[in-house]
Amino acid sequence: AVTAALSGGSDADVLAAFGGAAAFRAAVAGGTAPCVDLSDSRRVWVVVDKKRPLVPVDFEPAEVTAPANMPHTVDGRLQPAASDALTALVAAAAAEGAGSIGLNSAYRSYDVQTRTYNGYVGSMGREQADLQSARPGFSEHQTGLATDITACNSGCAAIESFGGTPQSAWVAANAWRFGFIVRYEDGYTPITGYEWEAWHLRYIGPELAQVYHDGGFHTLEDFFGLPAAPTY
Ligand code: DAL
Ligand code: ZN
Repeated sequence: AVTAALSGGSDADVLAAFGGAAAFRAAVAGGTAPCVDLSDSRRVWVVVDKKRPLVPVDFEPAEVTAPANMPHTVDGRLQPAASDALTALVAAAAAEGAGSIGLNSAYRSYDVQTRTYNGYVGSMGREQADLQSARPGFSEHQTGLATDITACNSGCAAIESFGGTPQSAWVAANAWRFGFIVRYEDGYTPITGYEWEAWHLRYIGPELAQVYHDGGFHTLEDFFGLPAAPTY
């Protein structure tokens, strides 16, 4: 069933073939599911970190769309399922009293990430840049599954101001309900290789995000039994 789902089915079909997302995670982390490729950038379970570049390194998602009905500080597009999920997350945050959330950045191509990373290196030097920005070919943003969000009150603030806002607290507690995780949590730099980014959400789909939340995980590396990725 797994082999059939992997060759012809959706990500959700693959999880179902394993008997659900918890069984999928356990099999992958336990090393009994070598058929699951965590480097497949077309899959919602892809893991991108300093040890795991995109494959191919200039990968482009098949489709990215702009989330509806949210303040945009800059243009941003995501893979369709992630885009719809972000729209739902933002609506729920407002409805549940957490305030308004805007979109700062989402899909970034290899070339855009090159410019982004070089900008950080130019302003702070390579050592500090590597704690805050991925090198081209190593950014989750290139998958179309990651987004940087901002707190919008009278205007939308810089992403670096997101931590400590009511929006950030709500997102940290509730993003999983919509299939997102806060990818770079405070205190996990030795595993992720990045400083705390309260604003950077990664879409892994609602089934896996629930397992991530219920299991008390803090990094995708631990979730899937992968080595820490503090450096390239
Ligand atoms: N800021 C994150 C690590 C990125 O550049 O993808
Ligand atoms: Zn980001």
